[in-house]
This record gives sequence, structure tokens and C-alpha cells, in this order.
Amino acid sequence: MTKLWGGRFTKPTNQLVEEYTSSIGFDQKLAMHDIKGSQAHVTMLAECSIITMEESEQIKEGLQKIAGKIADGDVDYSVADEDIHMNIERMLIEEIGPVGGKLHTGRSRNDQVATDMHLYLREKTNELIQLVEAVQAALVSQADQHVETILPGYTHLQRAQPVSFAHHLLAYFWMFERDKERLHDSLKRINWSPLGAGALAGTPYAIDRQMTSDQLGFDKPYPNSLDAVSDRDFILEFLSISSILITHISRLSEELILWSSQEFDFIELDDAFCTGSSIMPQKKNPDVPELLRGKTGRIYGNLMGLLTLLKGLPLAYNKDMQEDKEGMFDTVETLDGALHLLAPMIETMTVKTSHMRQAVNEDYSNATDIADYLAVKGLPFRQAHEVIGKIVLYAIEKQKFLLELSLEEYQQFSNLFEEDIYEKLAPDHVVAVRDSEGGTGFDQVHKQLHLAKQHI
Ligand code: ARG
Repeated sequence: MTKLWGGRFTKPTNQLVEEYTSSIGFDQKLAMHDIKGSQAHVTMLAECSIITMEESEQIKEGLQKIAGKIADGDVDYSVADEDIHMNIERMLIEEIGPVGGKLHTGRSRNDQVATDMHLYLREKTNELIQLVEAVQAALVSQADQHVETILPGYTHLQRAQPVSFAHHLLAYFWMFERDKERLHDSLKRINWSPLGAGALAGTPYAIDRQMTSDQLGFDKPYPNSLDAVSDRDFILEFLSISSILITHISRLSEELILWSSQEFDFIELDDAFCTGSSIMPQKKNPDVPELLRGKTGRIYGNLMGLLTLLKGLPLAYNKDMQEDKEGMFDTVETLDGALHLLAPMIETMTVKTSHMRQAVNEDYSNATDIADYLAVKGLPFRQAHEVIGKIVLYAIEKQKFLLELSLEEYQQFSNLFEEDIYEKLAPDHVVAVRDSEGGTGFDQVHKQLHLAKQHI
């Protein structure tokens, strides 16, 4: 098959080179975006009298037909045509004859491929924003039912202070809120139009870049043609945002895995989201959150891959840049899969409120509150801390929890202790009094929940 660029060559391309350099195996995902970009380009060419209206109509009809065939899966892509751009151009020429060859007037594959990727990533970013929001809605639906559910809060994975379960879930809500904001914000930069930058230097044709930019829904054309074809920041930014997002997904997954272990036993994931063991009949494994946690590696890898690829590349286009696509597609698809599963898995999990409560009853996570009790009575907090440390040590030796010590025992450590210490140590009280802004106190959590609902 002769190449669309074959004029300058005296020999056919080596078979291995053809396979090695072709990207059609993966960039066919850009087909519809490529057609959309071409339609805008050809409309502009006619508006600017660079081609005739009839030619433009013929080309657009041809492109429409090809789009239909691609949607029906009725096309055979050819490796010899290297990439999606040349495959479509070849199909167009086959469909409508030599006039199809006018499509590429005043354009290069360099601005074309950049345009396709901007269009692709804009679409996917908007879809991902919706999916993140669905996860937020799932968190809110659980949080709504569990404001008063108390579980141990941890630091260093040691029991620290009890918190409302809704508060814990909402911590993830705000992480996802920031991810959503970052995705939204990145749209500003995704939405620059490279089309019309040509190969690198612009074009002698009297094209109208603003017109194609408007038609494609971009905010503005890139002001510099070299930058337009060389810039992959918008993909780097997407991969960075994705890396942060998958970090959040992974941390949440880790907690779901811990909580559903027999050691914690705070939640049970729905059977539909777990799998069994081929040998151990008792097993119910949290495979989904484990895989979500595991997917983190490839997403970080995709970011590192593109950073490394771009470092040291001279302006403008270099073939290295063809390697920018698979990591981007993989990240989009990995996140799409993860977010689709995460929302229903959260929504359907069973929260074992009595086990959470039992855990709080059987720990020393109210110790800070005794220190605060003495501090309120005038003892400097640092001294109170020392006294309570001794009380905790004493209680552990006696195999008692803090609510089980008698008033006499307390008074051996300080004569400031009175009968009201017991109500101050009750878990609900311990949570309720943390009423500072953004704290776990029930009133604060209700406020927070109300605020969260305004974001979904
Ligand atoms: N398949 C190429 C890519 O993805 C399209 C751009 C080709 N440009 C070129 N000058 N060879 O990067």
C-alpha cells in the first residue's frame, strides 16, 4: 500500500518499522474526536474560502459516513496507515475520491493529534467528575445514617479518641471534593485549542483559528504554535490529579479492608462485592477494595512515565510523544472502573454499629477527657497529662477500663476528682463535647453533612 506521505521515498517501509511505529492499535480510541476536529477544520476552510462549500459538504458527508461505520464497528484499521488520523483520511479518500485529500489543507497531524487529545480528555474529565460525585453521594448516604454511630478514631493505628462514623466518612467526602475541584480547574487548561498551529510554525493559508476553537467549544486558541503542538501539560496535570484521586481511593479501600477483617469487625461488605477462596470455605475476601488499592501503582506509573518522556524533549513534535496516549487511556479507564465500583460498594456495606460501640467501650480513648477534666479544674494540662498517664497505667495493671475505676481510686491520684467524672467519660459525651468547628461533636457533624449535601 502506498503511503499518504510516500512521495519522497524510494523504498517501502520495513515491515517491523511499520509495526513498531504505528499507533493505530491504541489511538483508534480517538476516532470520534478526530472526526469532530476534522469537521470543524473543514467547515472553517470553506468559510475562509480556502476550499469551496461543495468540497466542504462532500468531505463532511464522507466523514459522517465513516463515523457511522466506526460506531457500528464496521471498519478495518490498517497498520500500514500508521495512526487514526491517516486511517480516517484514507477511508475518506476511498469514500469520496480525491477531494478527500483537501481535508488536510492547512493542518498537520501534530496539531490534529493534540486537538484530538484535548477533546478526548475534556470529555473524560467531565465524566470522571460525575463519577467522583457519585462516590461522594454514597458516602453522604452512609454518613446520614451514622452521625450518632461512634467508633474509635486512630492515630498511629492506635486507638486515640472516639469519633462519629459519619465524621470519618465525611473526611473522605472532602478529599473527593478537592479532587473534583482539581478536575474542574484543569478544564481551563484542557480547553485551549491547538488546531491551526500546523506542524509547528503555523500555516500560510488564511485560516481562522478562533472559528475552529469556538466550534469545538474551546475557550481560546493557543497563542504560540510551537507550544500548541508540544504541550502535554494538560495530560500531565490530569495524571497528577488522577494520582491524588487514586491515593484517596486507596486509603479508603485500605480502611474498608481493615474494618471488614475479623480483628476490627466494624463493617461487612455486601456479598455481591466480595469473592471466596478456592480452598478455604470460610473465606469472604474484600477483593474489590484490594484491587482498588492495587490500581494505584499503574496510575502513579503512568504519571512518572509521561514526566520522564517529556523531560528533555526539544521543541516541537517528536515521535516520542506518541507514547503519551496509552498511559492517559489506561488512567481514564482504570479510574472509570474504580469509581463505578466504589460508589455501590460503599452504599451497600453493612455498618456494625454495636461492634464499633463495643470497641470504644473497651479502650482508653477517653483518657484525654480526664486530662481535660482536671485542666478545667485548674491543673495545668501538662501536669494533668502526667497524672492521667499514671491512672491509665494503673488501670491497665488492674485490667480495668477508665469507666470501671471507683471514685476512691481516682481520688488516690488527685483530690480534684468528683462523681461527675463518670458522665464526662461516657463515649457519647466524649464525642459530643468536641464541638469546635469541624470537630466530631454531633452538632458539628450535622452541620458538616448539611454543607456536604450542597456539593452533590
Ligand atoms: N500518531 C502520531 C502521534 O500520536 C500522530 C502525530 C504524528 N506526527 C508526526 N509528525 N509523525 O504522535
